[in-house]
Amino acid sequence: MRKVGVALLGLGVVGGGTYKTITEHREFYQKTQNLDLVVESVLECDEEKIKALGVEEEKVASNIAEVVMNPDVNIVVECIGGTEAAREYVLAALRAGKTVVTSNKLLYAKHSEELERVAKRYNAGLHLEASCMGGVPVVRTLMSGLQANVITSFVGIVNGTTNYILSELSEQRGTFEEILEKVHKIGIAEADEEYDLEGYDAVYKLSILASLSFQTKIPVEKIYREGITRITEEDFRCAKDLGYCIKLLAIGKRREDSVEVRVHPALVPKEHPLAGVNGSYNAMFLTGDSVGDVLLSGRGAGALPSGSAIVSDVLFAANHYEDISTAFKHPEIANKNVKVITDFSSKYFLRFQIEGTTSKVLSLFTQKGVAIQKFIHRESEGELLVITHETKESVIKSVIAKIEERQLAKTESLLRVI
Ligand code: HSE
Repeated sequence: MRKVGVALLGLGVVGGGTYKTITEHREFYQKTQNLDLVVESVLECDEEKIKALGVEEEKVASNIAEVVMNPDVNIVVECIGGTEAAREYVLAALRAGKTVVTSNKLLYAKHSEELERVAKRYNAGLHLEASCMGGVPVVRTLMSGLQANVITSFVGIVNGTTNYILSELSEQRGTFEEILEKVHKIGIAEADEEYDLEGYDAVYKLSILASLSFQTKIPVEKIYREGITRITEEDFRCAKDLGYCIKLLAIGKRREDSVEVRVHPALVPKEHPLAGVNGSYNAMFLTGDSVGDVLLSGRGAGALPSGSAIVSDVLFAANHYEDISTAFKHPEIANKNVKVITDFSSKYFLRFQIEGTTSKVLSLFTQKGVAIQKFIHRESEGELLVITHETKESVIKSVIAKIEERQLAKTESLLRVI
């Protein structure tokens, strides 16, 4: 039986979950994979974490050089997060010819080109399943399960923290602050919660997923981003009344010679497969030209779901040592200059506080060529709710500007609808 030595960089939530997954499944992998998977080295400065997991003292390395020079280490798993030390350590491992498995979305979204170049040069593998959607095997699905397809679009719930908050708020299970505290306790929120709440975390994941789906390189700066902090209680109430729920979505669409990539909250019809994905669950609704629609769903964060993704990558790497491909088999074919559409089209939900007459507000939509799918005038509240048919973002903004310029209504909310 072949022995495969693993080094773990970082024993936090993800590293700890990986350590447990490997040690508790040793016999199972011996039987099912014909591999003896062993943690040979760990790099972690917090002694409490080392003790809590019961790591043997002789396996604790004091620096990265010790890890990458260790001949018993075949695969290095990076779970330290951030981009500085992580980048340095991953590059050191790749340069030593070690295959790297990372859960670091930030590192990959920002430095994938450099990492892939170095991996190729030193004939090392580079795997990233755990960087997007935790235990949901979306990366492997895109790279192998669906590789026969041209992926035409996807809509995903890729951030567990915001999905948890939105699900709880829509059920009125506490105030925003109370729910935020709960989500920190569950342990899935980023230390800097703005990363989750303002959509940055989702943007990093979208950059990776869209790059894999559309064979391109999409820099994070080119992705439209809007978080969940401007959604009001009133929005939840209206969405419910109209038959929708509110989700933070990561959307990618392949156009003829361009792509559309955006992260923002949106109204999702109750009957859409993503509407039932609640709490900290993630999901990805993909469309391929041959397969049609595919839905993947599961836990997008947490020790063991992330451990599952990492160890699956480790096993994949261990079983495919003759094909140690990086995420892009041919990074050079990736279209680095792909046009990213900023004036995308969508359906819109608008909530107005009426100051003039409703008919005048509605006629401005018609004048600008925007078709209205549905409107509700709540006379007693002086409120007008409008759902439009698909139109361009620039057009809807010009309608709003006209309405406000003429002081016909105040725009309380604008949310996209899928
Ligand atoms: N903060 C992230 C989330 C963790 O809530 O999804 C997993 O990437």
